Amino acid sequence: MATHAPTDPADDPSPAELLAGRNNLRMHAMDGLMLDGVKLSAIAREVGTPTWVYSAGTLRSRYQALAGALKDAGLDAQPHYAVKANDHLAVIATLAREGAGADVVSGGELRRALKAGVPAKHIVYSGVGKSVPELRLAVAEDIGQINVESAEELAMLSAVATAAGRVARVALRVNPDVEAGGNSKISTGRATDKFGIAYDAAAALYAHAATLPGIQPVGIATHIGSQILDLAPYRDAFARIATLVRTIRDAGYKVESIDCGGGLGIPYRNEPAPSPAGLAGAMKAAFHNMDVRLALEPGRWLVGPAGVLLASVVLTKQTPVKRFVVVDAAMNDLVRPAMYESWHGIVPVSPVDAVAPLSPADVVGPICESGDTFAKERALPPLAPGALVAFLDAGAYGAVMSSPYNARPRAAEVMVDGDRWTVIRPRQTIDDLWANEVLPAS
Ligand code: LLP
Repeated sequence: MATHAPTDPADDPSPAELLAGRNNLRMHAMDGLMLDGVKLSAIAREVGTPTWVYSAGTLRSRYQALAGALKDAGLDAQPHYAVKANDHLAVIATLAREGAGADVVSGGELRRALKAGVPAKHIVYSGVGKSVPELRLAVAEDIGQINVESAEELAMLSAVATAAGRVARVALRVNPDVEAGGNSKISTGRATDKFGIAYDAAAALYAHAATLPGIQPVGIATHIGSQILDLAPYRDAFARIATLVRTIRDAGYKVESIDCGGGLGIPYRNEPAPSPAGLAGAMKAAFHNMDVRLALEPGRWLVGPAGVLLASVVLTKQTPVKRFVVVDAAMNDLVRPAMYESWHGIVPVSPVDAVAPLSPADVVGPICESGDTFAKERALPPLAPGALVAFLDAGAYGAVMSSPYNARPRAAEVMVDGDRWTVIRPRQTIDDLWANEVLPAS
């Protein structure tokens, strides 16, 4: 719960402590903050700010760490990257080359995954409100699995698949009724949440699914929330899912796969966080000897620590009661602090700022809302106008959730690979903002 609950600034890790816990970032005495082999100041000089910067190496190493933990636990388990966390084609493609499938939640994400090179058979489609055109697309592409969230959706899919002369492989997404995730806006596995099929109704619906034309029930899926820092809710949910699968099998139906969802949290504030090995252990404890294929839908864990948001200080404003550091990034870029009270590390980029004395400041953006606040009472160096700062762990739910609010063009995106870097999305221009706007004839 730590990242979303109000936090005491006295317990904040310092910039140096944050860097010590992140092996893709280091402060070089001459070159300042480096992401892998690239000076962040060089990117800011050429591309400007705000700019998202992702490490391809971190994407690869995190995928390998996750896949390795599953393998070490002796599990037959396929990660499907939850594309919603960062849907840039370069990010999806980097993970796909390592062997990741994709978990998508819209026709748009499905098309992005295909475009990035994820084979259709490695795509899983989740979501509480897939439209008929979206279901048609999923059926036409013959994707690996559709996670159905209601009896109503099952009927829709049966009609769509039958009309197309296809059979859709279906998992029922079951709501295990457990409490998980630090923020009620991203907790998904409680009975009162909109997600999934009620636990007690799932076995009967599975049996019903087996009777429907165009539907082949193949498994059970669950997803209990996001930014989960404690394995206990996973253990509870997985135990309930294992019981359900046994019940369905006892009734004579085949269950080939269990999709364990996403949600594994990351230590934004250097708090203790579970490892992939821990999650693999929880999966093994519940599902070993069940002769079932396992799948996962991790988003944040794979991409969050791979990205930073680079910003420049516009000015520092001293009021009688506070120091405000106003930066050129805002809630339209990184909305998480405004939306969930999330905590992101903020680290100076210059080696001079890195050794300057720290004092508390509120870090804010230029947007006309008090919610446009990234941090309160954060211990930071003086930070003159033009100083660069990096918002850490911004690779997940960063650029994807940005908007052009306040007529602020979308920030550029850069991918670093070793000591090379590429602009993977140029900064939007002001002209782009109104390119598709039409003035009615007057
Ligand atoms: N699978 C399903 C069905 C999901 O709904 C989600 C996330 C995931 C997988 C991936 O979860 P992850 O491994 O990334 O936790 N915007 C919020 C997070 C929303 C998560 C929504 N669903 C944030 O910025 O914290």
